[in-house]
Amino acid sequence: MPQTILLLDDEPDNIVLMEQTLQRKMRDVSTISFVSPREALAWCAGNEPDLCLIDYRMPEMSGIEFMAQVRQNPRFYGIPIVMITGVAPEDVRPAALIGGATEFLSKPINPVEMVARCRNLLMLRQTLRDQRRQARRLGGEVSEAVRGIALREQEIIIGRLVRFSEARDEETGSHMRRMAFLSELIAREIGESREFCDMLLLAAPMHDIGKVGIPDRILLKPGSLDPVEWEIMKTHASIGFDVLKDSDSALLKMGAEIARSHHEKFDGQGYPQALCGESIPLVGRIVAVADVFDALVNERPYKPAWAPGDAFDFLRRERTKHFDPACVDALLKRISEVMDIENEFSEHQLPDDGSASRSSLREVSSR
Ligand SMILES: [Fe+2]
Ligand SMILES: [Fe+2]
Repeated sequence: MPQTILLLDDEPDNIVLMEQTLQRKMRDVSTISFVSPREALAWCAGNEPDLCLIDYRMPEMSGIEFMAQVRQNPRFYGIPIVMITGVAPEDVRPAALIGGATEFLSKPINPVEMVARCRNLLMLRQTLRDQRRQARRLGGEVSEAVRGIALREQEIIIGRLVRFSEARDEETGSHMRRMAFLSELIAREIGESREFCDMLLLAAPMHDIGKVGIPDRILLKPGSLDPVEWEIMKTHASIGFDVLKDSDSALLKMGAEIARSHHEKFDGQGYPQALCGESIPLVGRIVAVADVFDALVNERPYKPAWAPGDAFDFLRRERTKHFDPACVDALLKRISEVMDIENEFSEHQLPDDGSASRSSLREVSSR
C-alpha cells in the first residue's frame, strides 16, 4: 500500500515543486496537498497520512498552530512532521520542537535533502506499523512493556535516524521489514522471551544505520569494492554502534549491539571485533542469519536473487562458520513461515530454479 505524504504550504508553487520531486524520486508514495491549513485539518480529522511536510509561515494559521491542533488527535501521535522554515531557523526551532515537529527543512528546499528525510521517516513509520500488525497477526497483544517502549521511544528513534538524514542506502524498507520479522522468528524458535522478541523486531532494522556515515561513492558503487573501500565500508558497524550506544533506552541499546555485531562470524572471521562463538551478542548472531538470508533471496544491484533452496543450503554450509548453528537450525525449522514473510513483503518474485550466480556470494555475505 503506498504511503501518503501530506503537504501543506500556502504557496502553490512550493506545493508543485515538492509534489514533482517526491513523485519523481519516491516510488510507492502518494501525496495529498493543501494550501489552506483549515482544509488540511478537516482532511486530517478523517484520514491518517504517514508523514507531514508543513510550512511554518502561513497567513491563515502558523505551522506551529496547525501542528498543535493536529497532534491533539491520538492517531497523530506517531506521525512524523517536518517543519519547513523560510525564516531564520533558530527563531522557530525551539517552539516548533515543543509543538511536536520531528525535523526541519529550510527554504529554498533542497530536493535531495527533502527526499532523504522523507525516506528515513517513512521507513521508520512503516517499521513501527508492521511491528503492531505482526503482534496482532500472532494472535496476541504485544506486551505492555514493549507497547510503552514503542510509543515513548518512537520520537527518539525518529530523531536519531533523521540526524543522519543524508542516508542514501540502496537497501529498501522491504528488506528491513523482512529481516526484522525473520530475526523475530528465529528468536521465538530458540525460546527467547516475548519481550525480547518484540524488541528485536523493532531494533533489527537499525542494523545498518551506520551506513549513513559511508560516502556515496562506496555505498552506491555497483560491483566490487577495492580493499581500501572495503575497509571504509566495514566501519558502518562501529559507526552504527556509536550513533546509538549512549541512549538510556533498552531498545536503542539493543539496536547499538545489533549494529556493531551483525557482521561478526561464529568462527571469529567477522568484523569489527572478530568475536567468536557465543561471545558475539545473541542479537548479532540472530540478525546475521536473517540479514544474509534475506539479502540472498532478493535481488541487489550487484547480484541476482538466489533460489530459496540455494540460500537454505548456504546457511547449512555456513553453520558454525559464518553463523551460530542454533540460529540456522531455528530458521530451517520454520521454512514455511520464512517463505510467508518473504512473500508478504516481496519486491520481486523469487526464482524457482537454482540459477543464481555463486560468484556473487562474497558480495552479499560480506556487505
Ligand atoms: Fe551491515
Ligand atoms: Fe541488511
